[in-house]
Amino acid sequence: MAGSTLGNLFRISTWGESHGAALGVVIDGCPSGLLLCEQDIQDYLDRRKPGKTKIATPRKEDDTVEILSGVFEGRTTGTPISLLVRNQTQRSKDYSNIADSYRPGHADYTFDAKYGFRDYRGGGRSSGRETIGRVAAGAVALKLLHSLGIQITAYTKSIGPVEIDPDRFNPDLIKATPTCMPDAVASKKAENYLEECMKQYDSCGGVIECVITDLPAGLGEPVFDKLDANLSKAVLSIGGVKAFEIGDGFKASLLKGSENNDSFYYRDNRVAKSTNHAGGTLGGISDGDHVIFRAHFKPTPSIFQAQNTVDKNGNEIEIKIEGRHDPIIVPRAVVVVEAMAALAITDLLLMNMSAKMDSVTNFYHSKS
Ligand SMILES: Cc1cc2nc3c(=O)[nH]c(=O)nc-3n(C[C@H](O)[C@H](O)[C@H](O)COP(=O)(O)O)c2cc1C
Repeated sequence: MAGSTLGNLFRISTWGESHGAALGVVIDGCPSGLLLCEQDIQDYLDRRKPGKTKIATPRKEDDTVEILSGVFEGRTTGTPISLLVRNQTQRSKDYSNIADSYRPGHADYTFDAKYGFRDYRGGGRSSGRETIGRVAAGAVALKLLHSLGIQITAYTKSIGPVEIDPDRFNPDLIKATPTCMPDAVASKKAENYLEECMKQYDSCGGVIECVITDLPAGLGEPVFDKLDANLSKAVLSIGGVKAFEIGDGFKASLLKGSENNDSFYYRDNRVAKSTNHAGGTLGGISDGDHVIFRAHFKPTPSIFQAQNTVDKNGNEIEIKIEGRHDPIIVPRAVVVVEAMAALAITDLLLMNMSAKMDSVTNFYHSKS
């Protein structure tokens, strides 16, 4: 299977299936000398874990990370960092009824069409568990970014029809509410909405917003590795993401130039913008403002209602999905979005180091 690798200089390859022995990631290109221990990674994996609230799958997954290589005496060595999480609570029998049939909305049919053979237990590579490798690698990237003062914060903006109120925005609530909404009132409403969905054996979708602060101007390459292009590829590669917006996003197409342009001015002798419709990127390059983007998630495909589908033997059948599924993907994916943003940004940050002859000269002269 090709396409399990992302990044140019900070390069990750995720591996493993949801019901195999383990899942993990290899990170190649992380600079040496970064302080790193298992707990740095575990803190992020714990945010991804299910089984914590009634609006997530009741599967209990410990998801304990092991660092296999690339770290010595608490620091990265510059060699490939291999991270592993062993699978523990697989219940493969839950999936036996989909071995020969295709769940609507999931990747079963397309996997068979492509490979002619698939690990049907839990969705294999297209399972939400594949994101363990992304989150583990993202934790390393975030450690690197934090050492430079760059922060990445994602949160749930909406669940079904329930949206947060910016006037009630409280960042402390992101990790405290079961929905990851930074607004207690909206979070309660969203929980009620989700409970109604669950009573009807249904699922729902939502939107995650992500803000990147203190990113210097100059990150992103002008053509194929644009900041917005690389962020969108990283985020759209998460299962269930159907749309990506940066800055005003879809609304920009409704604005006039005079409304959409962000005027420049000088603040403390530095170029600043009076508004941020652009979302912190111009020409694919960061402009020094906050980068702000949104990921739109579809409803979880595995629902417990009877649905029409087909089997491999040419029959039209009715399917009732079993197993333990998230009634909504969004709260569990907040940390995945943060991780994917961190990976895209770290890669561009390292690539940007060779953009100017001055940087190259300074680096080699300071070595001699
Ligand atoms: C964190 C996370 C958890 C997920 N949990 C489930 C789940 O419990 N059940 C399910 O059917 N899909 C789940 N998904 C979504 C599927 O992985 C995804 O819809 C599927 O691979 C099809 O891909 P597509 O929706 O991008 O077309 C989850 C996705 C993520 C990112």
